[in-house]
Amino acid sequence: MSESQESATAAANTETAASTETNPPEAASNAVGAEAAPAAADKTKEEAATGEAQEAAKAPPPNQALVEAMEKFRALGQKAFVLGASGEVGKEVVKELCKSKIFSKVAVIGRRELKYEDDLYKEIDLEQKIVNFDELESKHEDDFKGYDVGYCCLGTTKGKAGVEGFKKVDHDYVVSSAKLAKAGGCKHFNLVTSQGTNKNSMFLYPKTKGLCEEHVQEQGFQRFSVYRPGMLLCDREEKRTFEAVFRKLVKPMEYFAPTWGTAPTVSVAKAMINNTVTASDKASEILTNKDIRILAGDVKK
Ligand SMILES: NC(=O)c1ccc[n+]([C@@H]2O[C@H](COP(=O)([O-])OP(=O)(O)OC[C@H]3O[C@@H](n4cnc5c(N)ncnc54)[C@H](OP(=O)(O)O)[C@@H]3O)[C@@H](O)[C@H]2O)c1
Repeated sequence: MSESQESATAAANTETAASTETNPPEAASNAVGAEAAPAAADKTKEEAATGEAQEAAKAPPPNQALVEAMEKFRALGQKAFVLGASGEVGKEVVKELCKSKIFSKVAVIGRRELKYEDDLYKEIDLEQKIVNFDELESKHEDDFKGYDVGYCCLGTTKGKAGVEGFKKVDHDYVVSSAKLAKAGGCKHFNLVTSQGTNKNSMFLYPKTKGLCEEHVQEQGFQRFSVYRPGMLLCDREEKRTFEAVFRKLVKPMEYFAPTWGTAPTVSVAKAMINNTVTASDKASEILTNKDIRILAGDVKK
């Protein structure tokens, strides 16, 4: 089985291997785009007469609990870093962080410089750090110092990087980053793996993801949140033929059963941010594809 087939099959698996500790917090479980809420609150009586306001009135009501959780979180003035920010999930995470402004500073840690030209990115204190992932632990300890929350969306494919390259990116780089983050003071580590993740699997993709989850968990973060989305839906920049065909095939599933095995990348990002601002008494949690869709506000609980 090719890497992309393996990955897509893992993503298409039902939730059996997924939730060991699944309990999306109440406040976020009805989440709708939280950025809509402050805007709704600001509407003046004058604007209410306009067509724009009438349109807004048709939008779902803001989730007050989530809005309040965001405000409370924002007041903490915490800092975050994002790994894999050039990827399909990572770039949505950065966008959502810019929209929600829940951190006083966000650092994008990656192997190359990214262009952030849109005004959206000027909304927050956004910094870039270029690192050599092969020398993380020997040279980049300082780059991970002082962040309260981490988002990791790193990943590659066997097709692109080979077996060893895949293990290096999807396991070694993630675990080394987690080690440095923990040493640097990170309290909450958010990691994207995949539906079907299973450290005991005979297949490379689910096994590597499972081992990665286990070894990040061992770092002992105050809070460790794992997100296991199904097939990611997006207009992928990189050409992945099998994935593109598979994405077309699962379109009806996204329409009729969105919680089963598909997740738009923006939903994964929203789920990560909504979950971050929602307090949890769990040291670790695994969010299944269904949990992700609920947290993102795509479907009701
Ligand atoms: N594809 C799916 O349908 C699917 C389903 C479920 C879960 N997932 C998982 O979800 C996560 C995010 O997926 P995605 O589609 O957003 O990933 P993506 O678009 O492929 O982005 C991957 C990120 O990892 C970075 N990266 C890759 N190789 C690297 C290397 N050798 N050194 C340093 N950085 C490297 C990339 O940086 P550059 O831009 O510099 O390459 C990019 O920022 C991954 O872990 C993936 O396995 C995917």
